[in-house]
Amino acid sequence: MKPECAVEKIIEEGGKKIVVCDTTRARLLPVLQDVQDRKGYISDKDMQQIADMLGIHPVEVYSVVTFYSFLTAEKKGKHLIRVSNCMPNVMKGSEKVIKAFEKALKIKVGQTTEDGQFTLEETGCIGMCDRAPAIMVDNELVGNVKPGAVKKLIDGLSKAKKKKAKK
Ligand code: FES
Repeated sequence: MKPECAVEKIIEEGGKKIVVCDTTRARLLPVLQDVQDRKGYISDKDMQQIADMLGIHPVEVYSVVTFYSFLTAEKKGKHLIRVSNCMPNVMKGSEKVIKAFEKALKIKVGQTTEDGQFTLEETGCIGMCDRAPAIMVDNELVGNVKPGAVKKLIDGLSKAKKKKAKK
């Protein structure tokens, strides 16, 4: 059986167009994912090094980083809070949830707290319309979020951090 290829390309051979595996670009996403997992973001320097390593233009690396929401070129907080802003969530009050987070964290959406603990973002659909307003805290989905519960949620994350630090 032929091994699977994540990215294919068309080349001309003997006057015919054939589909072959683009091994260079097939490696790009796993490499980016690895840097993202280890550092939490992919710096300009990382992108340049990856481009050099794979022999592709840095702009190509940058365009992949900025295309996927799970990759980021900016350093984010230890905890990433994403509030879904698709229509069902807006109708169920996501704007109020955002305001509650902004107030509790003393930042605006899109910003990171000064201590580097929290980044607040809006995001598109997270597949939780039946439990809107919904958010993602790091990789965890949380549904039916009430603005009044936001402070407690943040306190819980902060306490978890202190507990870990004591161990
Ligand atoms: S349509 Fe966005 S959560 Fe379902």
